[in-house]
Amino acid sequence: MKRKVTKAIFPVAGLGTRFLPATKSVPKEIMTLVDRPLIQYAIDEARAAGIKEFIFVTSRGKSALEDYFDTAPLLEAELRRKGKDDLLELLKTTNMDSGAIAYIRQQKALGLGHAVWCARRLIANEPFAVILPDDVIAAETPCLQQMVEAYAETGGNMVAAMEVSDEKIGSYGVLDVKEDMGSMVSVKGMVEKPDAGSAPSNLAVIGRYILTPKVMQNINRMKQGAGGEIQLTDAIADQVNTSEGVYGFRFRGQRFDCGSKAGFLQATVAFALARDDLRTEFMQFLNEMTAINKAAQ
Ligand code: UTP
Repeated sequence: MKRKVTKAIFPVAGLGTRFLPATKSVPKEIMTLVDRPLIQYAIDEARAAGIKEFIFVTSRGKSALEDYFDTAPLLEAELRRKGKDDLLELLKTTNMDSGAIAYIRQQKALGLGHAVWCARRLIANEPFAVILPDDVIAAETPCLQQMVEAYAETGGNMVAAMEVSDEKIGSYGVLDVKEDMGSMVSVKGMVEKPDAGSAPSNLAVIGRYILTPKVMQNINRMKQGAGGEIQLTDAIADQVNTSEGVYGFRFRGQRFDCGSKAGFLQATVAFALARDDLRTEFMQFLNEMTAINKAAQ
């Protein structure tokens, strides 16, 4: 019987330099796709997957994130007075049960692996999920839920994977595939950001993981040994030839890299077009813009 995954780590301690100057005072995770912050998409996905404990690895300057999940007594009283029940309902999705959310500080941005390691005491000896809120995934069944369902069959370690073109594969962690079983692949190696032409496959790892406590122990070892950034990929790769193994999961859905400006803009357009209250007006605007751009060329 595999242990259920009920804990998720959200590493949000990065500097977000690609969005400067905005991220000088606004955490990247609070930036909005239409009217919902990136972190809300991540939390909703985790909830759908059955996560009960939400562990944020934060850093200096991220207090807006903590406030976001708090109650807002003045605002709520005002909305109640005005009879805005729909908005009060909406705000409920931002609240967390007492004790369900924890914040851990990563004092230095030593890399994703280190950020995950900062949560080791709260994870203890359980499997856990890691969600990078930068990766927003539009999907009929939320991505982590798909993974939790697959994990119930396989156990082990599981990373979300997607096909990426030759030109772009060098920006990702890449899977060396042992056996391709369709939606799932078993993995015999992982390479972080391979040099041009040397990627072992086109299957890239993106920001959803289900990991065993062993991975945490692997990071522990790396912490003692390595300088510079501590890579999560390396700690997962150490598990490939063990009885646990590592699996890549080809999720069904569209992933947006909201850590980059182009990806963030693409997500904004996609999520706006998916909204009944915005679609018609926004589509008209996009058509006009496209026509103007074509005419100018
Ligand atoms: P990124 O590589 O996107 O870095 O981190 P970043 O600092 O957020 O953004 P840029 O590149 O400077 O624009 C991927 C994820 O890992 C977290 C980030 O918060 C993000 O969710 N992270 C990264 C940490 O929590 N700590 C780190 O030391 C590094």
